Amino acid sequence: MADEPAWHHTAVVYQVYLRSFADGNGNGIGDLAGLQARLPYLRDLGADAIWLTPWYVSPMADGGYDVADYRDIDPLFGTLAQAEALIAAAHEQQLKVIVDIVPNHCSDQHRWFTAALAAGPGSAERARFWFRPGRGADGSLPPNDWPSMFGGSAWTRVPEADGGAGEWYLHLYAPEQPDLNWENPEVGEEFEDILRYWLDRGVDGFRIDVADFLVKDPALPDVAGLPAGARKPWEDQDGLHDVYRSWRQVIAAYPGDRVFVGEIWLKPLTRLRPYLSGDQLHTAFNFDFMGAPWNAARLREVIDTTLSSIGASAPWVLSNHDVTRHLTRYGRANTSNEWQDNPGVSDLALGTRRARAAIMLSLALPGSTYLYQGEELGLWEVEDIPDELIADPIFERTGHLVRGRDGCRVPLPWLGDSPGFGFGPADGANPWLPQPGQWRQLAADQQASDGGSMLELYRAALRIRKDRAELSDDQLSWHETAGIAAHAAEGWEATAAEGVLAFTRPGGFSCVLNLSNAPVPLPPHKELLLASGPLDDGRLPPDTAAWLRTEAS
Ligand code: NOJ
Repeated sequence: MADEPAWHHTAVVYQVYLRSFADGNGNGIGDLAGLQARLPYLRDLGADAIWLTPWYVSPMADGGYDVADYRDIDPLFGTLAQAEALIAAAHEQQLKVIVDIVPNHCSDQHRWFTAALAAGPGSAERARFWFRPGRGADGSLPPNDWPSMFGGSAWTRVPEADGGAGEWYLHLYAPEQPDLNWENPEVGEEFEDILRYWLDRGVDGFRIDVADFLVKDPALPDVAGLPAGARKPWEDQDGLHDVYRSWRQVIAAYPGDRVFVGEIWLKPLTRLRPYLSGDQLHTAFNFDFMGAPWNAARLREVIDTTLSSIGASAPWVLSNHDVTRHLTRYGRANTSNEWQDNPGVSDLALGTRRARAAIMLSLALPGSTYLYQGEELGLWEVEDIPDELIADPIFERTGHLVRGRDGCRVPLPWLGDSPGFGFGPADGANPWLPQPGQWRQLAADQQASDGGSMLELYRAALRIRKDRAELSDDQLSWHETAGIAAHAAEGWEATAAEGVLAFTRPGGFSCVLNLSNAPVPLPPHKELLLASGPLDDGRLPPDTAAWLRTEAS
């Protein structure tokens, strides 16, 4: 329905969190030189595209999601010339490049915001943002009760030229990220120009940061008393559709089937429908799938709702740079994805088994899949980063109550026997966050050619996915309609009801995932193509997945 480019519809896109991927210049922070040197790794893994988190000039108050100049690269990461070279090098290796665009807010160091502060109340410069007088007799209370997503109020008061306390400005995230006012046509024009700037440089698409927040109810009403689950005045506003209709025309004018991927956390997923109706975004992440607990009925419900409401147009995703790594989630008593105050310990061996099975489920479903860097190495969430090293603004904004997202952003281990596990050159600075010592065995070089490793499982699965043309189709039939139920006599049907997901794709490919507590027989098949773990006397153990060839093909 969303008119998604064919290449993206079947793509496996690898998310690169640049500052933690690979450090080329030895300053302890990942950069473009490091990424370019590792492109062959991504090609060999079997990725079709990369999505790069923001690379723009930024004071890095929120890992680069506070952009000071949308048309240049931050010196920490490299130069514009290096970015252009990277796009070209990626294309040479058959990898498409999706970049992040951050239109909801910019940095407080952006020239527009510094001009707004200088220009004062009522100015055209302030009209690009949401400046308002405070409430109360002396204006010392914020203009409304909106919370910042990072904790505390969404408003900060600024001093005026005379040194006195002045207006407040809105920031749904950190104070260093003032929200732009999309009611102001200048803002829309500027972003369309920025899109063209990067399209001209050859990018294949954009991941749109908080795509559902740009437009606000201009009355800025309080939210106290809104029923739970009601639409907030900063999300999913009608005016957004005009923004994306216009963006769609911008991108459509370029050759090469480029793509918009929305970051939209609206729940349930059916709320994505209007955005994907064909004249706006091409796709948006499937966060209901990412948030689903390790439970057959819940996973099946999300898959069914996705396929029946928006088709296979929402990439399957298990992790990203904002959530606890799924390997750790799946090892906990509560496996859902929501941030939890007291998540409890994680059984990492169990989490690893489930993560192996989960990726085989994702990759067997119709549509595209996004991988988050390091999941292919079996990395877990690092939960003991020393307080003084935590960089995520959530930690400070919540008065150290929430440790935030750094645990999934720890630099990757490439070489088990090198300092910093080869994240950077051997004589370079330590990685910007410390890596657990046990990651030695998870380093890419230690896993390469070890048939039982997570890395080799990913490589094998991606190879099979690419080789089997039928997997590019959108058809999926659950086992009861696919004839597997006919084998009830073999004990299949009884166990299936209690936590086994099994489906076929046209052409004789089946995926079976056992989320129950007991081994189950495999349905009749011609060949076992891949299993996420050893079988138990021919049966599929708990927390294990198998891909089968069920017919001649
Ligand atoms: C979503 C991004 O993924 C996250 O990392 C960031 O903090 C917020 N948007 C604000 O830009």
